[in-house]
Amino acid sequence: GARGVRFVDRLDATVPFLLRPYGLLSARARRFGRDVYDMRLLMQRTTCMTGADAAEVFYDPRRFVRAGAAPRRLRATLFGEGGVQTLDGERHRARKELFMSLMTPEARDDLCDIAARLWRERIAAWAADGRRVVLFDEVSELLCEAVCAWTGVPVTRRQVPAVTRVLLSLIDSPAAVGPRYLRGRAARRLADRWAAGHVVRARESETAEGTALERIAGFTDADGLPLPPQVAAVELLNVLRPTVAVARFVVFSALALHGNPSWRRRLQDEDVPETMEAFVQEVRRFYPFFPVAAARVARDFTWRGHHFQKGRRALLDLHGTDHDPRLWDRPEQFRPERFLGWEPDAYSFVPQGGGDHYEGHRCPGEWVTKDLMKLSITALTRWADYTVPAQDLRIPPWSAPALPKSGFVIAQVRLAN
Ligand code: HEM
Repeated sequence: GARGVRFVDRLDATVPFLLRPYGLLSARARRFGRDVYDMRLLMQRTTCMTGADAAEVFYDPRRFVRAGAAPRRLRATLFGEGGVQTLDGERHRARKELFMSLMTPEARDDLCDIAARLWRERIAAWAADGRRVVLFDEVSELLCEAVCAWTGVPVTRRQVPAVTRVLLSLIDSPAAVGPRYLRGRAARRLADRWAAGHVVRARESETAEGTALERIAGFTDADGLPLPPQVAAVELLNVLRPTVAVARFVVFSALALHGNPSWRRRLQDEDVPETMEAFVQEVRRFYPFFPVAAARVARDFTWRGHHFQKGRRALLDLHGTDHDPRLWDRPEQFRPERFLGWEPDAYSFVPQGGGDHYEGHRCPGEWVTKDLMKLSITALTRWADYTVPAQDLRIPPWSAPALPKSGFVIAQVRLAN
């Protein structure tokens, strides 16, 4: 009740949150019996919101803005400075349109064609040398090579492992403490400089013609001026980094195939798009990835008896909403069936944010993510045979973004058919 809220509110919840990034917010919401409550986090009073109704409020641009919303450690690693995540209003709309324009069906097919070729090459190489493969490492590199080719960023095969390491470091460092966090900051400086170099070269020559790199390098802001190279670099990395991050969903897909042999057989034997769609949706709903989205209250208002104070940071509990028992029957079970005949809803299923892609901050990469997951599942069920040796597949609950400890090892890989 209210007394519990007031007591807990006096303690800073940063450590509990870091220990339980996916469970804390919804656990407290249930304990307090409310979808909105304040808590101290990173030494600031922070409004926590969970559930579909709260998500609809959170994605109302009259009530929430993104300026100053992301904590500094996130900007110093994951996001960078000046990118689309930090914009509001008309500037956000124009910049977001740039990302959305890269996601046409034709462009997505191009990316999938590149990735498919790389999958076949890798499977053949794994089969030829017979070694064990850490799927997370290999798929991260595969996706890095594919997305660099797709965006027109020249990266030689020998450079792929190093570029992959830098991009992965941007993703796994924000919530880390100590050396891993510092490596993430160094990786951000390195990546920004590297990407800015590509932007400048694309502006000077015509080598990037028709590519995403050219579009980003040539994009003009509302003032009619091109983006400063540092900001264009951040936006280029906003395509490269999260595409490499899809490797986590590929590993979760492999884990789900391993744990659900009947679904593996179904996906292998039937070529039914609805079956594949349901499986991919359930992987995105079920596994922990992006715990929360952050915004700031744009103006004072009251909702369900809670006073939202202008300027206060707010977190939307993405993972908790995807596991809300009011929205999802037996949410802690992996059941792709739930998505057969599912009516799309912009606020109850939010693994990559909610609301509208164009008007709000919802992830523009959802289609690319699903395409690449489906391709990977096809590769893992139809193009390759493999065994899954004994290994530590546990997902530590404190690691965000999460991953099974072993990175998912496969062995005795053979070409299927
Ligand atoms: C935004 C998740 C893949 C590009 C977001 C948000 C989330 C998210 C939670 C923020 C939503 C919000 O703030 O309200 C994910 C996950 C992915 C993924 C879990 C799986 C790997 C991608 C891909 C791309 C991408 C493949 C690009 C190719 C972006 C961009 C934004 C964004 C540019 C900022 C949008 C804005 O502020 O308007 N993503 N994403 N993401 N994502 Fe993704």
